[in-house]
Amino acid sequence: MAERKKTQIICIANQKGGVAKTTTTAYLGTALARLHKRVLIIDSDPQCNLTYSMELPENLQEVASENNLAAIYESGLDAQSCVLAVRDNLHLIAASPDLVMTEVTLDSNPESLSAEPEAILRHALESLKNQYDYVVIDCPPNQGMLTLNALVASTWVIIPTLCSVISLTGLERMLEQVHEIVYGDPPLNEDLKILGVLLTRFRRDRTVEVDLEARLRSLEEEFMVFKTVIPDRSQFELMGELQAQTGRHLMDLSMVSYSLLPYLTLAMEVEKLLSPKGAALGRTDQAKDEARH
Ligand SMILES: Nc1ncnc2c1ncn2[C@@H]1O[C@H](COP(=O)(O)OP(=O)(O)OP(=O)(O)O)[C@@H](O)[C@H]1O
Ligand SMILES: [Mg+2]
Repeated sequence: MAERKKTQIICIANQKGGVAKTTTTAYLGTALARLHKRVLIIDSDPQCNLTYSMELPENLQEVASENNLAAIYESGLDAQSCVLAVRDNLHLIAASPDLVMTEVTLDSNPESLSAEPEAILRHALESLKNQYDYVVIDCPPNQGMLTLNALVASTWVIIPTLCSVISLTGLERMLEQVHEIVYGDPPLNEDLKILGVLLTRFRRDRTVEVDLEARLRSLEEEFMVFKTVIPDRSQFELMGELQAQTGRHLMDLSMVSYSLLPYLTLAMEVEKLLSPKGAALGRTDQAKDEARH
């Protein structure tokens, strides 16, 4: 019997706000599900944007009002009971505004929740992770305990960033946090690796962004920048090749399709990187080369 592929847990994190963490979680999750992968997305942000973006029908909203990530942290609710089937192959563990209080408790009185407060999510996912090919976790725009829990539960982190000098401070902080988690004393998660830096809302018509992209790609010793770049949606009218590919007038395509397309490319890149061949080679320069070509 063929060996079952390991569940890949990917955290989408950057303490900088508005860099498309939630958009990336929603669309990468959707794209992987479209590629017939079994996907669980987790909303680990008290803003609940990922949960809202899924536009849950009323019956699932009702379930999510009680069975959500805050209840997993606060009352040790079984994660399985919080799983909502939102689309084909795509499941969600919803956030609730109660996560604000969860984060306060995790900061002020963590031992009241668990003896290992930074590993609550990791333990909660143990029982269900083998049901999925991918678990993708959306993080809040800070480096607090919810983000820490997501990073401790994950094997990979994708760092979305805008291509601006000011956004790069967020990238630097993320690299420091990942380093601390892997090599700290004690290490909180030695398995955590950076899958890649994802350039989002990218505008190829801006020289400053194109120059910065080249600089980031030259830092390949430190991290890999995904070949896939997510264009700013305002750029779609410039994507003439899209029209040629689909054979349809651009206006016939909904915004959803526009938004999903680059994420389908990203999903394929992620698949290739995490295929047994890519993963085995993943820590060598040769693999980095292969993944890019
Ligand atoms: N490719 C894109 N083109 C244009 N706008 C985008 C693109 N991707 C995301 N956005 C918009 O940018 C804003 C921020 O996106 P998103 O909420 O995903 O970021 P975030 O990093 O999750 O934010 P936060 O830090 O607040 O959680 C949203 O209004 C979203 O619709
Ligand atoms: Mg968000």
